[in-house]
Amino acid sequence: MRILSIPGSIRRDSHNLKLAREAQRLAPAGLEVAIFGGLAALPHYNEDEESGQPASTVLELRTAIAEADGLLFATPEYNGTIPGVLKNAVDWASRPVDDPVLRNKPAAVIGASTGAFGAVWAQAELRKSLGIAGARVIDAELAVPFADAAFDDQGRLKDPAQREQLRAVVDSLKSAVEERAALARA
Ligand SMILES: Cc1cc2nc3c(=O)[nH]c(=O)nc-3n(C[C@H](O)[C@H](O)[C@H](O)COP(=O)(O)O)c2cc1C
Repeated sequence: MRILSIPGSIRRDSHNLKLAREAQRLAPAGLEVAIFGGLAALPHYNEDEESGQPASTVLELRTAIAEADGLLFATPEYNGTIPGVLKNAVDWASRPVDDPVLRNKPAAVIGASTGAFGAVWAQAELRKSLGIAGARVIDAELAVPFADAAFDDQGRLKDPAQREQLRAVVDSLKSAVEERAALARA
């Protein structure tokens, strides 16, 4: 089983990238977590480009999502919502409207911010957008507040409770993927 983690920040030392890497380490045996690092290379979404061949970077995003069994988004919060680069990726992945790669894709949303609430508004907005695009967003959540102090020098989450919660999110996503596969077989 393969999960694609999409950090919503393109910052080199991103806390949300660290969360994605922590998910890689905490994943159970048999579950591969790949990290998508191509948000910065995506063009701005433009509906005019829907009729022709999309940019190669857009195809890479769509292929990576299509080939993943589930998605794990880790989003920061910018001014109370998700960063533009992440919304841009969601918009590309939500089209073409008749067969978007997000449709029916199990997805989990977690997030870290340097503020006191751990990007909970951004997470809620992302869950909304993903749901509108047709993804199956699961209930599991993890909010990491005060992210500047939440990781050690190796980029590990310091708080064992947060690590356990992240492990639980990954496990729930795995279960959602298995349930979807069982439904598809039935
Ligand atoms: C433009 C901008 C707006 C921000 N707005 C918020 C906000 O509304 N709420 C919040 O908790 N943090 C906010 N922050 C702080 C981010 O949570 C913090 O920079 C975080 O580390 C970004 O995620 P990253 O480490 O994955 O890059 C904002 C940061 C920037 C640059």
